[in-house]
Amino acid sequence: MGIQITPSILNADFSRLGEEVGRIGSADWVHVDVMDNHFVPNLTFGPTMVEALSRATDIPLDAHLMIEDCDTHAPAYVEAGASSVTFHVESTKAPIRLAREIRAKGARASMALKPATPIEPYEALLPELDMLLLMTVEPGFGGQKFLDLCLPKIRTARAMMRKHGVETWLQVDGGVSLETIERCAEAGADVFVAGSAVYSADDPDAMVRELKASAEAAAS
Ligand code: DX5
Ligand code: ZN
Repeated sequence: MGIQITPSILNADFSRLGEEVGRIGSADWVHVDVMDNHFVPNLTFGPTMVEALSRATDIPLDAHLMIEDCDTHAPAYVEAGASSVTFHVESTKAPIRLAREIRAKGARASMALKPATPIEPYEALLPELDMLLLMTVEPGFGGQKFLDLCLPKIRTARAMMRKHGVETWLQVDGGVSLETIERCAEAGADVFVAGSAVYSADDPDAMVRELKASAEAAAS
């Protein structure tokens, strides 16, 4: 599939989200950060907003659920129109069952790990997943500093994927910018969330294209 850029609208202007999504036409996905004020100390969108966004853009939606009890709530995001749904392993009781349910409903199933959660216990789950998200900041807010301590986990996850011969995408999220994207790509990430880097740029779409070019150069 190659390198993909998924701008996060967390740092966009919430009063005019439809227009904000229209400013990133080169994006492969729109990353929608769903937060419930319990799993993370911040509150954003629910399924109704995902449904409204899906009507406002042709770019597929990548819902990142930072909520408690993903087992119960994740399927609603597929029904709302998300083409990819990411649940956190830290808030899911039965990740295999949930990944299968998301896929059966017709979306890509993705599992996220916070920076302090190791990948090793989940190696056998990789074939159940369309994407693995490795957080490169503590989830909850945009604009945080990239955690270099996550780079070895990215390398380990990429090596596990090669070993198992799976096509699982490897997404990174948090502090991704022109300054940090190259080392993520070198470590093996292929899907890049970028929030503040994109929406603080004068031309968000040009930034999406620059980020992609930079990751492609580093990956090759
Ligand atoms: C953080 C969110 C991220 C956030 C990224 O919890 O999951 O998607 O919007 O924002 P930046 O790119 O500014 O770190
Ligand atoms: Zn996110």
